[in-house]
This record gives sequence, C-alpha cells and structure tokens, in this order.
Amino acid sequence: MGIEERIDQLLARMTPAEKVGQMRQIAGSGDDDTEALIRQGGAGSFLNVLGEQAAAYQRLAVEESRLGIPLLFGRDVIHGFRTIFPIPLGQAASFDPGLVREAARIAAREAAAAGVHWTFAPMVDIARDPRWGRIAEGCGEDPYLAACLGAAMVQGFQGSDLRDPERIAACAKHYVGYGAAEGGRDYNTTYIPEGLLRDVYLPPFEACVRAGAATLMSAFNNLNGVPATGNAFTLRKVLKGEWAFDGLVVSDWNSVIEMIAHGCAADEREAALCAVAAGVDMEMTSAAFAGHLESLLAEGRLPLELIDEAVRRILRIKLRLGLFDDPYRRNTAVPLAPEHLEAARQAARESCVLLKNDGLLPLASTVGRVAVVGPLANDGGEQLGCWAFDGRAEDSVTPLAALSAALGEERVRYAPGLDDCRSCGERLIPAAVAAAREADVVLAFLGEDAGLSGEAHSRAFLDLPGTQQQLLDALAATGRPVAVVVMAGRPLTLEPVAEKANAVLLAWHPGTMGGPAIADLLLGVASPSGRLPATMPRTVGQVPLYYNRMNTGRPPRGDAPCVTTGTPLDPVRHYATYLDVDHRPLFPFGYGLTYSTFTYSDLELSTRELKLGEALTVAATVTNTGRARATEVAQLYVRDLVASLARPVRELKGFQRVELAPGEAARVRFALHTDDLSFHNAEMRRVTEPGRFQLWVGPDARGGLQGQFEVVE
Ligand code: GLC
Repeated sequence: MGIEERIDQLLARMTPAEKVGQMRQIAGSGDDDTEALIRQGGAGSFLNVLGEQAAAYQRLAVEESRLGIPLLFGRDVIHGFRTIFPIPLGQAASFDPGLVREAARIAAREAAAAGVHWTFAPMVDIARDPRWGRIAEGCGEDPYLAACLGAAMVQGFQGSDLRDPERIAACAKHYVGYGAAEGGRDYNTTYIPEGLLRDVYLPPFEACVRAGAATLMSAFNNLNGVPATGNAFTLRKVLKGEWAFDGLVVSDWNSVIEMIAHGCAADEREAALCAVAAGVDMEMTSAAFAGHLESLLAEGRLPLELIDEAVRRILRIKLRLGLFDDPYRRNTAVPLAPEHLEAARQAARESCVLLKNDGLLPLASTVGRVAVVGPLANDGGEQLGCWAFDGRAEDSVTPLAALSAALGEERVRYAPGLDDCRSCGERLIPAAVAAAREADVVLAFLGEDAGLSGEAHSRAFLDLPGTQQQLLDALAATGRPVAVVVMAGRPLTLEPVAEKANAVLLAWHPGTMGGPAIADLLLGVASPSGRLPATMPRTVGQVPLYYNRMNTGRPPRGDAPCVTTGTPLDPVRHYATYLDVDHRPLFPFGYGLTYSTFTYSDLELSTRELKLGEALTVAATVTNTGRARATEVAQLYVRDLVASLARPVRELKGFQRVELAPGEAARVRFALHTDDLSFHNAEMRRVTEPGRFQLWVGPDARGGLQGQFEVVE
C-alpha cells in the first residue's frame, strides 16, 4: 500500500483530538502528564528529546496509544551533532557544495544514531546586516550561493531515501525574510517588497524545496505587516501553491502565540486559527493548536479540510522516514569517528578566509619561537560557535594544542593577554607583550566568543569586543611580526586590525577541528581558499552594505575614497557616498587571498547575442602565477544594464573551485541561460528582458575580466 493510501486509511480512523494531537510539538522531556498525553495521541513530535528518553516515548506512542502513530523527534543539528563543523557562514565561505553536503551527511549519521529524525536546518535566511547575530547560521548575503549550499545541505541531511537510518529530515528555515530585520535587531520588523522577496529572499528556500526538503519552519518576523507564521501569501500561495510543496511546515518556537504580541491575534484562539489558515501544520512548543482547534472545528470556524491537510503532511513525513515500519530506527555511527573529524578539519580549512598577508604566512618551517596570544587560542568551547548543542569543549582540538603539537611545545609560548574576549581589563597584556618580545612571530587569536553571535545576539558595533584591539596594538608595538586569526560569527570591522597585523586570517567559529585546520593553514600544510560570503564593512555606519546593490542615479565615481576633512565637514562631491568614510567595503563579497597569485585571461563567450531561451558558454583561463599550490574560486557575475526595473550592479551566477600548481593554468567554463538573467517585473512575472548585459569572470565581486552580450527577442 502506498503512502497516500496509508494516510487516507489513518485519517479515516482518527478522532479530531488525535488529529490535533499530531499538530503539536513539545519541547523537552516532560513529566507524567506527558506520558499520559502520548498515550492519548496528544503529541505528534518532540524536540530536544534524545536517546533512551526518545525510545521510551516512542514505545508509549507506538504500543500504548490507540492508533500507534510514531512520534517525530527533532533537534537543532545546525553544523554538526557531536563532531562540530564550522558555523554555516564559515562553511559558506568554502564555496564548496560538495563539502557542505558531506558535513550535513555526517551530522545526520551522528544525530540519527542518537534517535534524531529531523533537524531544524539548513537556515537559508539571506542576511545583509552583520549586526544581526543569526548571520552566523546562514549562507550569507547572496541568493545564488545560499541556494546552491542550502540545497546541498538538504541533500546531505536527507540523501535519496529518508528511510535510510543514516539520514534525517531537513527543515529549511526561517521562512521567510527573517534576515532583513530592521537595524539588525533579532526578531525585528521586516519590510520586503514582493519583487525583492521573490528575487533575493525566496530563491534559497525554493532551491531547498526543489532539493526535496521534507519540512520548512515559519519565522518569527512580521513580514510587511503580517507575521511569517500567519502569512498565507508566503505559506499557501507561494510555498504550497506555486512550489507545490508537499511536506510539513512547523512554526518556530512559540511563534504561533507570538502573533498576539505582534498585534495580529487577540488571543491564542485567534492565533491558532490564523496560523492553521495560513498554512502552518505543526506548532512548536506553544499549545494554541492543542487548546483551541477542536472547538474551532466544532464551531465551524475552521474547516476540517485544513486540519486534515496539516495532518496528512505530518503523516506523510513520518511515513517517508519509515517510522511506522521502524519507529526505533537507529544506526551504528560512532560519534567523532576519525573520518568525521577529518571531514571537519577539511571543512575548517576551506572555510578560513585570508584577508591580508604581507608574506608572513605561511610560517617558515624554520620559524623559531612562536608566541600564541589570546583567550580564543585555547578555548575548545568557544571555537564550536553558536548552535552546537551536542558538541563538547573537551572534544575540540584548540589552535594552541595543534600548534604545540606541530611545532613542539618548546617553540610555543602561550599568553592569554585577556581573561576572555569580552574582557575590558589590561592586566594580562604586559605578560603577553613579554612573550611577544621573546618570540620570532606572534599569532594573536582575537574575535568574538560563541555567545556573541547566534539567536538574540545582535550587536550595534562590529569592533573587536573588550580591549582586544589594545592587546593587538601592544603586540604590534613590540615590532615582532603579528598574524591575527579572527574567530567570529559575523563580519567584523577589522580595519584597525588589518592596519596593525602583517596577516589576518578569518576562521569564523571553526568547530571541533578548528585548531588543526588553522595550524595547517598557518604552517602551509594547506593554502587558505575561503571567500567572503558576506561583505566586510569598514564601519558599522555603512551597514547594510552588500555587493548586489543598485547603482543609484549618482553612483560613487570610481574607487576614489571621499576626502575626510576636519571640521566642518564639507560636501566633497554629490554622489552616493559618505563625507566621513570611504564608501567601499573593507573587503568585498567573494574576496579571499591564497598563498599564491592567480591571473585571469582569454575571456571567451560562445556568442555575443542570444535569443530568449538560449544559453551561452563563458570561458576564461585561470593561471597560478605564484609559488604555491592553491585553490582559486572563479566567480561569474552578470549585470542587466537596462531593464524595466533597476537591476543590481552585479549578481553572482556561478562559481568554481579550481586547484592549480604553480605555473599551471585551467579553463573555467560557465553556462549561462537566459532564464538565469530573469527577475520579477512590476507585474510580478519572472521575466528576462532583451537588452545588453555585462558579465565578469573574476576573483570577487569587485574585479574580473569583463564581457558584454545581448539578449534579443
Ligand atoms: C529557536 C530558533 C530556531 C530553532 C528553534 C528550535 O527559537 O529560532 O531556529 O530551530 O527555536 O530550537
């Protein structure tokens, strides 16, 4: 019997109470009432219940409830379960879909072994504001990159058959627009015109749905006046209508009843009605569905069809997971298995972005004494980053441990320099300076602890917290060469750091194997290859700052920075710039150095003119002109020069990692179809308009070989 028939048969036997029960997700292991509730069929899912507790609850549901419908166990497995990978923003910097797919596969194995059926990942919220703490959890500012990587993560979590006990159901979140929070303040209001929603914020979710995502999560934010958790336009019209999504939508934590605080529901009863009518199938943690749906049904205020549709979707995912046939599914994966740790090390290597290097890196093997400075060099917990519930500090290999192992204890001297990265004291700085004076090179580990990013952790400033800059200034004043390794959950304003350091390596929060990966890069075992998935501003005053911006009627002329004067500030030019800061980013989207140098040459388009529906091939030669084997990430950008609506000055449409030995060259090729040039016009139709286009093939969103072509009717 097929899945849909099994659902029909079950639905026909279910009481209204049992149907509503399936729509309820309970947090954590409860108490005796919970057990009674399970026996009554009053719960469909639990989150944050694992192992034996999960098995015990499953036994109650399967063997002691009237219909024996199995429970669905969910968990935030965001960037690893016990083996923690770099935070998603760091993984995004790899520009490597195969790598993030493998990371998700390993995370799924370890989580499923512990009884998890469902992860609340990937998070694919586009974020253009690094003040927003949750930029750490996503794939950055670009819809094309987020779509590619989000789909890869879904494939990694789910594989080709959800019945595989080594796979878990994915959940694309937070649907939709959450990352556009005004002021970068979490949970804040979002206003997103439909065209921008469809061209920037929705595409990564559509890619996840096309990749087979079993579930989505509705977001907290008020979207254009309607909370995302009560938004029939995004949930029913777009997701379940236009995209024909047949999985389940779970609300975010209490986001159903938060519609009361939004001012969009008078009480929990109205909130429950609004959420179900809009297309939410399961309520996470709050109990508005449980408390009111039956009476709303009985009063005829809620059609039974809507309840049945929600329950059908829930049962469909449980059946696709094989839970009716194997409710106690487990696998034999060993957490922290060597191959898992090696994958985490490779992911951390590829996620690091080399922002500056005057030649200090990689350290010569003959390097003498090394001073390792900074609390983040020796904190296995902080390097795991946000949303690492099942990771353990003691599993981590810290940078200090890895460098000591690689160089020998006798060559490494550690000085914390600060009590922690938020410390505002200077008590430990003299000892760090003393260690620097006795060293041949200083490795300073600076940045944010894990708790300064993630949910509810937005920052109004993006500088190094505490007195870390003072520490760096003191280290630099010794005259010893300093390489700074930045750990952070977001782009930081690193201009003062770059001014004082000989080299800057951005490691994000690199996960369990962050130490060995960073040591590999510092010592030249591998070359950095990461590229920025989000623009790095000079100052928070520039934010929001992103590469795929509109040109405006008075674009900044060239790259000449504005003239900063004393006082009074006098207008230097009438362009879209600032009086008091260079309008350009410190480092652009897509930027990253390696230990070699690369050139681009011989740009070739298969045609300069193509009709709607046709494709052209773009090719260019990438040459390693340096002295080290390294990986270049060639990027393809396009610009629609004239259209019925203003179009961005650049849009990423392709990327390729290419590893080359010194002197080696390779042709990179991209296919570009006219559909790839489409956007939503004023009538909200996705169109590609004939006209002239520019394209670039290059190393980041600023440079590259430029070409032109025309689309004709
Ligand atoms: C949180 C987050 C969401 C997470 C959920 C369950 O509030 O917004 O991303 O998956 O609750 O922990």
